[in-house]
Amino acid sequence: MTDTGWQQQLRQIRTEALAALDAIRQRAGMAVTSAPERETPTPPGQQVPGHAPAADGDRALDEWRVAYLGKKSALSQVLRQMGGLPPEERPRVGALVNEVRAELEQAYETVRRELHEQALARRLAEETIDVTLPGRSHARGAIHPLLRVIAEVEEIFLGMGYEIAEGNEVETDEYNFEMLNIPKDHPARDMQDTFYLSEELLLRTHTSAMQIRTMERMRPHAPVKVIAPGRVYRRDEDDATHSHAFMQIEGLYVDEGVRMSDLKGTLEAFARALFGPDQTVRLRPSFFPFTEPSAEVDVRCIHCGGSGCRVCKETGWIEILGAGMVHPKVLDGVGYDSRRFSGFAFGVGVERIAMLKYGIDDIRAFYQNDLRLLRQFARAL
Ligand code: PHE
Repeated sequence: MTDTGWQQQLRQIRTEALAALDAIRQRAGMAVTSAPERETPTPPGQQVPGHAPAADGDRALDEWRVAYLGKKSALSQVLRQMGGLPPEERPRVGALVNEVRAELEQAYETVRRELHEQALARRLAEETIDVTLPGRSHARGAIHPLLRVIAEVEEIFLGMGYEIAEGNEVETDEYNFEMLNIPKDHPARDMQDTFYLSEELLLRTHTSAMQIRTMERMRPHAPVKVIAPGRVYRRDEDDATHSHAFMQIEGLYVDEGVRMSDLKGTLEAFARALFGPDQTVRLRPSFFPFTEPSAEVDVRCIHCGGSGCRVCKETGWIEILGAGMVHPKVLDGVGYDSRRFSGFAFGVGVERIAMLKYGIDDIRAFYQNDLRLLRQFARAL
């Protein structure tokens, strides 16, 4: 092969390689850097419609490198054929091949960098946050009125040094009845007939089981001061004032020397914090197997202030809880010696409080999830 033959072959390789590189750039949507020997260069700045994704450009570039700079490339082939040249010609041809290779390598590097920068620029542009877009609004929830009452009552008793405990809704016969001095044949069970899961397991009929559970946990520590809110169940027909599932808040205070006057003072402070500073409470004698003496506790009617109205059935008082001094049998049963310790307990009806506070006249409203009712509590926050 003649000298010009080599040169021509190398020039051809170079032209072809640069054109292929340009095609890659062009496909990626970049302006063409018209290689000197290109026949019909695309005018600078002109973009080819429909950019290839960046990954395509990378792959094409890899293939290009293999094809034009790899071991099987035309350029490598020329080098391999150099053995057939007269020794004095080899350096010149070798230098020429290296020159072309260096140029191609540099061109390759340039395009690789360009592709990289382009991909970066594209990502930056795509990921720009448009602050003028309207925001996505979230549906605003509200705290359920029953949970609001519980939170408020908890707050009041936390302020008096009580801890909060939560029990389980599935309770044993033992804790729900037996240890609260309600044996199997006791008529008080009928009043609290409930849903049995087995002979021994049931849905708790009151939160009073938490008296037992808390004392067992704390024993022999004193004082025991706890508030235990939660759902309870009874086999009642649902109507405006009854629900088969409802909420209670149990309170328990056990220590040496706790007296009935402590109970009354505590409930008075509670009623004032909840309904206003002018409130008073009234204790009426009652019966619970686990307290002795026992009382039903009323507050002055919130609607009429005590003068008598429809809400308080003209009595001027409204019952909000049951309470009493913890029965000695209950104390001894869980290991608090009743000769040394005494205590009081009470159980607040949460629905009753919420109905009074928010003027709701049907207990079922709490469980029907009517958004018109619930939304009012979103505003009242
Ligand atoms: N557990 C009783 C009820 O459900 C209320 C109560 C609690 C009474 C604590 C006295 C002491 O009616």
